[in-house]
Amino acid sequence: MEIVVTLEQLREALSSWRSEKKTIALVPTMGALHAGHLALVEEASRRADRVVVSIFVNPLQFGPNEDFSQYPRTLSLDQAQLKRHGLASVLFAPTVSVMYPSGASRTTVVVGRMSEVLCGRARPTHFVGVTTVVTKLFHMVQPDFAVFGQKDAQQLAIIRQMVLDLNFAVTVVGVPTVREPSGLALSSRNRYLSIEDKHRASYLFRGLLAAKSLFDAGERNPQVLVAQVIDTLHQVDLTPEYVECVDRELLDPVDGLVSRPVTLALACPVGAARLIDNITLDPGHHE
Ligand code: PAJ
Repeated sequence: MEIVVTLEQLREALSSWRSEKKTIALVPTMGALHAGHLALVEEASRRADRVVVSIFVNPLQFGPNEDFSQYPRTLSLDQAQLKRHGLASVLFAPTVSVMYPSGASRTTVVVGRMSEVLCGRARPTHFVGVTTVVTKLFHMVQPDFAVFGQKDAQQLAIIRQMVLDLNFAVTVVGVPTVREPSGLALSSRNRYLSIEDKHRASYLFRGLLAAKSLFDAGERNPQVLVAQVIDTLHQVDLTPEYVECVDRELLDPVDGLVSRPVTLALACPVGAARLIDNITLDPGHHE
């Protein structure tokens, strides 16, 4: 696996693959890699001949009072992990000045209303930062496939919409959330949690599963499903920032009863971390 930092190095690797007609999949990350990221790399390697993993802690997607400076940066460990894993062809780890050559970006990519709901309410500039940096990565790598986790369901829906709206020639692939045995979704931010916090954090998924049990038993009222999640979180004194039932693609709040596939999504502070999780509820799908 080659590690490249500059655009010149990246273009050199890409042009040799293109001349060999190899297909390319991109896995964008911010590093501090865990098994969830590796599941994306595995899916990428099933889809394409060559896999580019990017690691870039993107300043543009962090708010002024967020954890940009504390965010874990473990590049040499990440590099060793990817090498051992054996599926990535190139690790692209640009510096801030490679990614933002003029300092503050004067151009941004805005997907609009979808970026303002759910996490967008507490993080009003976050998704503009995400869609701007992902657009830049798409231009730099021009991948055939780009792989994202369903763990960040809002991010995935926004990127799918952006790819449609801007006619990007890339197929967006979503990968199911990888979890600890407790149900806690793997996240680079789980490093901020104590053992006690981790136990409480496992109630996020427990709450979503409790709502899913009601749903599977026929409950279609989104308010009842949301209340079930909130009640479960209260059992360990957690108060969510939001719990919402939204349309899976456009993220509109469910109006009336659930009759299409929806995402039941939440954000919740636990200890020093703000965690997110979600599940899909599909009325057409019977297990
Ligand atoms: P990051 O949080 O590093 O996540 C990179 C990718 O890994 C995202 O697509 C995310 O959904 C996926 N991922 C994280 N935890 C996962 C889990 N437990 N199971 C499956 N997939 C998981 O998301 C970002 O970085 C950034 O916003 C980025 C897209 C790189 C833009 O800067």
